[in-house]
Amino acid sequence: MNAITRIAAAVSLASLLPLALTSNIAVAADAPSKGTIEVLHWWTAGGERAGINVLQKLVEKDGYTWKDNGVAGGGGEAAMTVLKSRAVAGNPPGAAQIKGPSIQEWGELGFLTNLDDVAKANNWDKILAPQIADIMKYDGHYVAVPVNIHRVNWLWVNKPVFDKLGIKAPTTLDELYAVSDKLKAAGIIPLAHGGEAWQDSTVFEDLVLSILGPEGFHKAFVDKDEATLTGPKMVQAFEALKKLEGNYMDPDKSGRKWNDATGLVMTGKAGMQIMGDWAKAEWTAAGKKSGTDYECVPFPGTQGSFTYNIDSLAMFKLKDPGAIAAQQDLAKIALEPEFQTVFNQNKGSIPVRSDADVSKFDACAQKSQADYKAAAAGAGLQPTMAHGMATSPAVEGAVFDVVTNFANDPKGDAKKAAEQLAKAVMQ
Ligand code: BGC
Repeated sequence: MNAITRIAAAVSLASLLPLALTSNIAVAADAPSKGTIEVLHWWTAGGERAGINVLQKLVEKDGYTWKDNGVAGGGGEAAMTVLKSRAVAGNPPGAAQIKGPSIQEWGELGFLTNLDDVAKANNWDKILAPQIADIMKYDGHYVAVPVNIHRVNWLWVNKPVFDKLGIKAPTTLDELYAVSDKLKAAGIIPLAHGGEAWQDSTVFEDLVLSILGPEGFHKAFVDKDEATLTGPKMVQAFEALKKLEGNYMDPDKSGRKWNDATGLVMTGKAGMQIMGDWAKAEWTAAGKKSGTDYECVPFPGTQGSFTYNIDSLAMFKLKDPGAIAAQQDLAKIALEPEFQTVFNQNKGSIPVRSDADVSKFDACAQKSQADYKAAAAGAGLQPTMAHGMATSPAVEGAVFDVVTNFANDPKGDAKKAAEQLAKAVMQ
């Protein structure tokens, strides 16, 4: 099956229509404009919205019109479904939030436009690390622009709750279980979580990183090594997932949004959340401060490792000259220092420019950048599986099914799950 048939086969247009129609937010049409750029993304939670608003304002400042197509749904599955239906119908947006290996698939389909001119004029080859630049290129040409570096392996802790109970942020899995027991005994949900496939896999990949280490993580999700995928440590990772989901997450988690889970930690109903640093954006948007209201620590047992998640905007081929100019402007702005600073301060991530100065960022961002550099010096820097940096969307989807089915099946067998995981990854 070639890529276009794959995408077409995956999409039932009729079922997607209501989603696509309701997700368009009208923008003032009467302002004089040099051209319109439609941007499809899934940054619809409070902190995420604050981030994308920065881009919108800068594009509008340059005289272009921003047409917002924010499709709700953490992790972006719903947004990608809308994007596929738009593309199959011959009506893709000018820019879309696409990342990792998926950029190659869209490039292969012939949908993406060449950004080499804007890249050259703005020195992208100099300001981006070569490994990051490579992800943004299809067939040697830039087709996407990166906006940030998120770290996935974080644990978020409500500081006043921990202080009151006299407990400390856990650094090992055993400590995680111990503080969870104390929180539970105090009538507090230990781990705020939303029972959605991508959230389950976010927790699972942290456990894999913690139990197998960065080398094992790499062997499993990047090298697709069967012995690692089915080995005793992977079985242990599934058992740990069952322990967290069954003992320390509340029964109302099913379908809960990730940002509502963050809200539970913020209000002290829950003690911790396992989530990437877009969760920090929620704390920031609520005016909360790291070190006082919350703490950010690497997921227990993953100190020294950094699972990276680079958001990027891929640009689609367009015909209208005004829209093309707007698209080039957006691409230029996305890597300029002003946007990189303000956007990432709102978004919870760190700038993707190698020369970025984070001295005015909060303590979590400074730690993130220091840990990124330290991890990059050894084996610690790894692409996230749960957020589309390690594998193709097809593999990711198959892994999500295995992990979520296991998490929701009280009788789920960890050994069988590891075998199913191997099948999903090695397809
Ligand atoms: C994206 C983030 C986003 C998060 C929650 C991740 O996959 O990379 O930018 O905030 O999903 O929606």
